[in-house]
Amino acid sequence: MRKVYLDHSATTPVDPRVVEAMLPYLTEKFGNASSVHLFGQEARAAVDRARRQVASLIGARANEIVFTSGGTESNNLAIRGICEIAEARGRHIITSVIEHPSVGGTIDFLEKRGWDVTRLPVYDDGVVRLEDVQAAIRSDTVLISVMMANNEIGTIQPIAEIGALVRAERERGRRYLWFHTDAVQAAGRLTINVETVGCDLLSLSAHKIYAPKGNGALFIRRGVRLLPQQVGGHQERERRAGTESVANIVAFGAAAELAQREMNKRNEHTRRLRDRFESVVTKRLDEIRFNGNREQRLPHLSNISFRFIEGEGLLIHLDMQGVAVSTGSACSSGTLEPSPVIRALGRDEELARGAIRFSFGKDNSAEDVDYVVEVLARAVESLRKLSPLHRRSVVAV
Ligand SMILES: Cc1ncc(COP(=O)(O)O)c(C=O)c1O
Repeated sequence: MRKVYLDHSATTPVDPRVVEAMLPYLTEKFGNASSVHLFGQEARAAVDRARRQVASLIGARANEIVFTSGGTESNNLAIRGICEIAEARGRHIITSVIEHPSVGGTIDFLEKRGWDVTRLPVYDDGVVRLEDVQAAIRSDTVLISVMMANNEIGTIQPIAEIGALVRAERERGRRYLWFHTDAVQAAGRLTINVETVGCDLLSLSAHKIYAPKGNGALFIRRGVRLLPQQVGGHQERERRAGTESVANIVAFGAAAELAQREMNKRNEHTRRLRDRFESVVTKRLDEIRFNGNREQRLPHLSNISFRFIEGEGLLIHLDMQGVAVSTGSACSSGTLEPSPVIRALGRDEELARGAIRFSFGKDNSAEDVDYVVEVLARAVESLRKLSPLHRRSVVAV
């Protein structure tokens, strides 16, 4: 059976060139980056190089990068780290209704501890409106956290415009307002420059850009202070204690460099596959609905609701034919609640339950697309035959 992986927003395979770069740091170059001797120095030099590579991907300085265990930790460190230090200045946070659970859950946690939260709507196209951000800013707002691109529908948020708003507030003399963006899905797919974006904090994850899981980074703009969430060591300039995962960090650095170098090529490739997929699916199937703004979105992702169908059922059907996709966020799959992101677009429950995310990667081919469309069309047709809702609608017609 053919196997086609279309779940690159959940995770990516490790690029063989990345494996090659990290391997020596698991074997002969195994030193602790904090050790004084030669082994330690070798590891330290490798970590420093990776820091420059990751910084370069987002136009930052190397000393503005803190390595973490992944996007989730970066988001926790950014949000809790700022809020806990800024508490005396204000206790209001602005965020969107479609953040990844690692942001949404962290903010829910603070809300339970007495913080006030404004959650911006995203309307039917999945995009936050600048006027809503502006209107939500209060004198006690200390943090705005809005993701750069969404993990389920791929919509790109007006991040640079939000950054400009924050800058304008600062120019008016405001000192205690910070801007964080979760760029986990955007990195390697959008050209990111932290100066243009104007953010103070930006989260990254290695496993979305063809490096291993369990590694990430937080950009912390020079001069921004936050409360470390993990203490008991001097690593990462006292901002994140714990022996550095040297081989993983080396891998992240190598993957960041490749992502930067190959971004245009990868984007052109995945966009071509995604567009081919969408055009054939549209011809083959009726009663489908694309979710999210179709222009302002990442080039590798398509999210489609199939009416009269339970997304989980369709996912299992596809899986039995070797096709890997996802319903909603990978991190929340396993629950049968309809995707809150799709619900936030104003879709009814049935459409939200019938949503599937297809996310393409650099190693997919046109043949993969053709195979998936065939399998998908057959699965949708047979599931609809079984669906009482569909039968009722056919009778009604
Ligand atoms: C937008 C977004 N933020 C954060 C994360 C969490 O990253 P990690 O898996 O590295 O903890 C993910 C992972 O799915 C994501 O898509």
